Parts: sequence; C-alpha cells; structure tokens
Amino acid sequence: MSMQTGLIFHPYMKPGRTARQTFDWGVQSAIAADKAGFSSMMISEHASQRWENIPNPELIIAAAALQTETIKFAPMAHILPHQHPAKLAIMIGWLSQILEGRYFLGIGAGAYPQASYIHGIKGGEDTKFLNDMVRESLQIMEKIWKREPFFHEGKFWKAGYPEEERVEEGGDEQHMLADFSPWGGKPDIAVTGFSFNSPSMRLAGERGFKPVSIFSGLDALKSHWDTYSEAAVKAGYTPLRSNHAVSQTVFVADTDKEAKRLVMEGPIGYCFQRYLIPIWWRFGMMDGFIKDKGASAKDVDLEWLVDNVFIVGSPDTVAEKINTLFAKAGGWGTLQVEAHDYVDDPSPWFKSLELISREVAPKIKLPK
Ligand SMILES: Cc1cc2nc3c(=O)[nH]c(=O)nc-3n(C[C@H](O)[C@H](O)[C@H](O)COP(=O)(O)O)c2cc1C
Repeated sequence: MSMQTGLIFHPYMKPGRTARQTFDWGVQSAIAADKAGFSSMMISEHASQRWENIPNPELIIAAAALQTETIKFAPMAHILPHQHPAKLAIMIGWLSQILEGRYFLGIGAGAYPQASYIHGIKGGEDTKFLNDMVRESLQIMEKIWKREPFFHEGKFWKAGYPEEERVEEGGDEQHMLADFSPWGGKPDIAVTGFSFNSPSMRLAGERGFKPVSIFSGLDALKSHWDTYSEAAVKAGYTPLRSNHAVSQTVFVADTDKEAKRLVMEGPIGYCFQRYLIPIWWRFGMMDGFIKDKGASAKDVDLEWLVDNVFIVGSPDTVAEKINTLFAKAGGWGTLQVEAHDYVDDPSPWFKSLELISREVAPKIKLPK
C-alpha cells in the first residue's frame, strides 16, 4: 500500500476575504480533493486569527459532505478548552451520524492565547492548564457518548446524562431521549501535536488515538514519534507509522522550475512573507529547519524555505524529496497537504492536488 494524501485547511486566507469567500473555498476545495482521490480533509478551528478565519469547521464539513463521495472529514482541531463538552459531544455525535462513516474527530488544546482569552481563559500560554482541560473535556464527552446516567462536577465543567425512561417499563414516551451518540458508537479520534516532548502525542499514545503532527524539522518529528509510540506501547497499543499524519507545504507542477515560480509568486509565497515566516519564528519552528540543513538564521527567507523545507517540484522531484524524508524520519501514513488561498485562480492548486494524489503518492511506500 502507498502513502495516503490528505488536505489540511487552516486556511491561510488573505486578509479581506469575506466569510462567504472562505466558506465557498472550503467547499470547493473539498470537492476538488475528493475528485483527486484524497482520503481526508481536516479543517481548523480558530476564533481569533485573521489568516485562519474558520471558527466553526463543522459548518464547512456539513456542506461539503453533501457534495463529495468518499473523502473523510475531521475538524482539526476542535479546541476542547473553548467549549462546553456536553454541547460539543452532542454536535459531534449528530454530525458523525449525518456523515455516515465519513467523519473523524480532531482534538487540540489551542495554539493562540487570544482565542483562549475570548473564551475566558487568561492563562492561554499555560499548556499544562489547557491540557488538563482537554483531558476533562474528553472524559465528559466519552461518558455522554455512552448514554449511561452520570453527573460530573469537575474542575472546569459540570455535565451529566439523565436516566432514560423506558417505555417498556411504563415510562413516558414523550420523555425518551434522542440518540446523538457518534456513528458506530464512538468516533475515531486524532490529536494535533506540535511541541518537543509533546503532551498531545503522549495523550494520543495513551488512548490509541491518531497522531497528527505539523512538520517542524526532523528532531521534532522523531520526538513526536518516540513520545507517541512509547506511550502507546505502555498502554498496550501497537504504534503504527501508517497511522501517523504529518502536515507539510507541498506543491507540484509539470516541472521543477514552474512549481518553484508558482510558489514564490503565488498565494503560498504571499502568505509566508506576510504571516507564516513571522509565525514560524515565533513558535520556534525555524530552529528545527535550520538545524536540519546546517544553515544559519540569516539564510532564511522565502526562497530558502522553498528550496530546503517545502516539498516543491515536478512529480518525480517531489516523490524523491518525500522518500528522502521518509528515510531520515521513519515515514508516516498520510501526507496532510497544507491548503492555501487560491480563490482568485484555483487551477494551479487543483492541478497540484491531482498530481500529488495520482503521480506522487503511489511512488511512496507506506512504512511498517
Ligand atoms: C496539525 C495541527 C492542526 C492544528 N490545528 C489547530 C486549530 O485548528 N486551532 C488551534 O487553535 N490550534 C491548532 N493546533 C495547535 C493545537 O491546538 C495545540 O496547540 C498543539 O497541538 C499542542 O501541541 P503539543 O501538545 O505538542 O504542545 C494545531 C496543531 C497541529 C499540529
């Protein structure tokens, strides 16, 4: 079996795009990815970011599900500290039933303190605090999905599930409870991991969840795999590299020269110059890339990233770059391609998705 392809839609929209443009681009991208043979589309949740302007991924998922055939959707991620777990559990259960097997759940602790602040959390930089919230939220949601009576009074939330009246035992038919448990009883869950010694990767391993990493250099990726697999083995799960998804900036065109030009002069270059290069410095991601290449901070600009970090080129070049990364890092199961704002001219982007899925992925062998 070969590597799977997925899309991750943050979606790095140019500031000024309307809500309607962003929403339509999400649905259009899902249709194109589905046609190209992508196995999954993950959609971010951000309450605060101008460039990442989707607060409710479930709305795009619901609309896109009606116009696609096989692609699976996941919010990546629902930020658990930002919402009441009962409300979220019911919505997730209902949406996964509507999607009839084409849904999985992504969970995260949250990246931006401003978004936490909006939700009443002042210490948004305190990752220990946020990770405690993630664990309590998950505990409540899993109880609600079981539909067994409980009442929880925790550190962060109260929630419960009532005793159900059974008609056959003389109960009142008007008070029967709707079944909003997830499709298949419980959802497949994926967890986003970002930092070194990632608490999220540890949670994924402990609970048998799918690990999803942003590529931020070989050391961080190896540390994600080690943290995840160590926790998985300890908990009695078999860690499979084929279950690991890694997001990357990937662009394919007919030739190396054309691919590089389209990235440098197009929406990807625009977004990196104005948003992602400063963000990557701020989150410490650049250090990993610099170390991998034995470069120095002054070398880093857009062109250096295109040549050394992004996966850009003709189908053959891109396959070779991914195979080289697999050899160094151990490989992963799904390449989660980072989406960008090609609203003004989608054709080079959609062609790139086609080439990634049809010409590159079959040349990459899944790791054991
Ligand atoms: C693939 C991926 C997607 C993410 N999507 C979001 C998102 O939609 N919204 C958000 O606030 N944070 C997002 N994050 C960040 C997470 O919420 C969280 O800060 C991070 O995964 C914590 O990782 P750690 O446990 O390794 O420190 C994402 C992270 C990754 C790796």
